[in-house]
Amino acid sequence: MKFTRAIESLKPEGAFVVLAKAKDLESQGKEIIHLEIGQPDFPTPAHIVSSAKKSLDKSWTHGYTPSLGVIELRKAIAKDLSERRGVSFGHDEIIVCPGAKPALMATVLALVEPGTKLLYPDPGFPSYHSLSSFVNAQGVGIPLLEKNDFSFDLNFLEKEIKGASLLILNSPANPTGGILKKEDLKIIANLCIENNVAVLSDEVYSRMCYDEDHVSIVTIPGMKERTVLIDGFSKTYAMTGWRAGYAAADKSLIDKLGLFMNNNTSCVNGMTQAACISAIEESQDPSEMMIQEFKERRTLIVDGLNKVPGFSCRNPGGAFYAFPNIKNTNISGKAISDHMLNKGVALLPGEDFGKYGEGYIRLSYANSRENISKAIDILIEEVPKISR
Ligand SMILES: Cc1ncc(COP(=O)(O)O)c(C=O)c1O
Repeated sequence: MKFTRAIESLKPEGAFVVLAKAKDLESQGKEIIHLEIGQPDFPTPAHIVSSAKKSLDKSWTHGYTPSLGVIELRKAIAKDLSERRGVSFGHDEIIVCPGAKPALMATVLALVEPGTKLLYPDPGFPSYHSLSSFVNAQGVGIPLLEKNDFSFDLNFLEKEIKGASLLILNSPANPTGGILKKEDLKIIANLCIENNVAVLSDEVYSRMCYDEDHVSIVTIPGMKERTVLIDGFSKTYAMTGWRAGYAAADKSLIDKLGLFMNNNTSCVNGMTQAACISAIEESQDPSEMMIQEFKERRTLIVDGLNKVPGFSCRNPGGAFYAFPNIKNTNISGKAISDHMLNKGVALLPGEDFGKYGEGYIRLSYANSRENISKAIDILIEEVPKISR
């Protein structure tokens, strides 16, 4: 068989590759501390699981649901978004998807013509680059600068934005944990309005902002009409395996995304949608406790990483990733990641997230304090032994 250019251009997410290697080692009896994969180590809250179970008895899984999602969930999302972002969304401006990832893909397919520029953060979530190649766009990584706490290099953005079809933002960010400040968002918004560029704002870590409130670009005047806001249930409610996320945007675009989903997945299963309604409408205490715990672990991991010879780590403002600078070790991220996996700690090289990720590694602190401390001890012992 001859494969298409599009399918040949897709790249795997590094986290899944290292996870597979780690699982392989585990099957051979080796103990691995998983700091590679970005998923909460907490169980899905019991009341959410219980709603899913009840939905089975009510036969919610019997049939297809509307491709845009059940109206009760779309209304719940619209209300939640309006309350949390302070911008009013109607339920007809929401589509439910099997995760934030499919919403990303549908949006890129809907808004980016081949050959046009697609701008995304670098280092950034690997799907952005992969999707850009998939649709044959001219992908341009906009550097996130460590000296600005991993906010955009705005001069670079200003030079590249002309003629772009879409700019992807991600705040709080994977892999840096960086947050786009309101002042920067205003500058970015002006550039998008002046150059008539649409924005995909990936806000899957919006609830994990530790030192300040989350600000969405959608709140800036003139931006709601040009922004696709994507959020999900995976991170906020420890529901990665349930596969549920959503996009909020102008109804005209949501209807197009609905057509795509109709031809692709048909719909998200009814049981998951019932669980999502209860996630939004019922107690937020389990999520808030989980987020508070991530905040404590952030201090533990950042302090620990700063003790590793040659590492320096900033305090990430959000998400659950630490992204230490390893340039002073003169060892590549890949060499550290390979060595550490053999020593029982799975983590990711920064270069997996783009060329500006070189000289960094990513560690997810969605793991217990005990495991984080153990991993730090192993890093302190092992990094000086890795050959340069
Ligand atoms: C920035 C970012 N966007 C989207 C996703 C995908 O989330 P979901 O599980 O909702 O598809 C992830 C998952 O790691 C992510 O880090």
